[in-house]
Amino acid sequence: MKILGTGSALPKKVVTNDDLAGFLETNDEWISTRTGIRERRVLSDDTLQSLAERAGKAAMENAGVSPEDIDCVLVSTVQAETMSPALACDIQPALGLKCMGMDINGGCTGFIAALAVAEGLIASGRARKLLVLSAEALSRFADWTDRSTCVLFGDAAGGVVVGEGEGVEDIRFASEPRHAVLCAHTPPGNSPFAIDPAPAQYLKMQGQEVYRFAVSHSFRDIRDMLAAHNLAPEDVDFYALHQANMRILEAVRTRLKVDAERFPHNIERTGNTSSATIPVLLDELNRAGKLKPGCRVILSAFGAGLCTGTALIKW
Ligand code: ACO
Repeated sequence: MKILGTGSALPKKVVTNDDLAGFLETNDEWISTRTGIRERRVLSDDTLQSLAERAGKAAMENAGVSPEDIDCVLVSTVQAETMSPALACDIQPALGLKCMGMDINGGCTGFIAALAVAEGLIASGRARKLLVLSAEALSRFADWTDRSTCVLFGDAAGGVVVGEGEGVEDIRFASEPRHAVLCAHTPPGNSPFAIDPAPAQYLKMQGQEVYRFAVSHSFRDIRDMLAAHNLAPEDVDFYALHQANMRILEAVRTRLKVDAERFPHNIERTGNTSSATIPVLLDELNRAGKLKPGCRVILSAFGAGLCTGTALIKW
């Protein structure tokens, strides 16, 4: 499977750390030194669907494909505007598509999970070209009264068009059940038969546990991926990690002993947009002309589950 083009879209509304300090007991210095985040984009009068449509259109244009070329749309999302229909179906009219569509919830590793599903559909002959997007609206289930979590998140959509060919060389996953470390419950509903349903709850996180898990497991996954392909850390041009926190990126980078140019980041402008961080970053690298043919990229994501996903790509 090969990546043929990239696209992304951010909401219009910019929320700076100073904006947050207007209604939370926080400040720019605390947020930026601990996370690297200076501002994030948040949905206001736009919708997640409109972001996904913009990102999808941009990816199809960048790939040079027309609507009739696309056999399937996959959208990684933790929670779209509707649980049903899938966002992957709702965006199709705006893109001129009439094909199979499904949403995938893999938490922050969702984009890599969607790539793996796309790879399987291509290998089975079910699809030849797919639009694979991530669209996330963390602003909808962050608790905006909880300064320890809401300052971290933003909204975004990004994605790729993939097709037959050589490029995505390996994709791997791992998970361990640690619900309490990072979790958001869906609303309980009103079934009269439900006994003791989990209460509706905003996203809860044990920040230091997430940090320890992310650094140790992302480093382990990258090291194992390199070893499996007989690559040294410097054989990889870019490590596109899930943009959760600048400190996590720096800790993984120093363990790998590679220079900062190989660890691109945009978290200072976007915040953590869950599974959308990696495709948005890939699109920015691609449009900046940095992803030259033949260059190697490792994707590494980590998140709720807890789970991780890693991909090795030759551009
Ligand atoms: N502004 C000011 N003070 C704050 C804020 C804030 N926004 N948030 C928390 N504090 C305070 C706390 O109340 C606490 O005060 P106290 O000492 O008086 O009790 C103090 O700062 C320290 O709080 P900690 O939670 O211990 O802060 P820590 O140094 O661990 O930093 C952080 C928190 C940045 C979240 C850190 O744990 C971290 O980076 N963890 C990684 C989590 C992450 O990246 N999650 C992303 C989502 S999950 C994912 O995408 C995989």
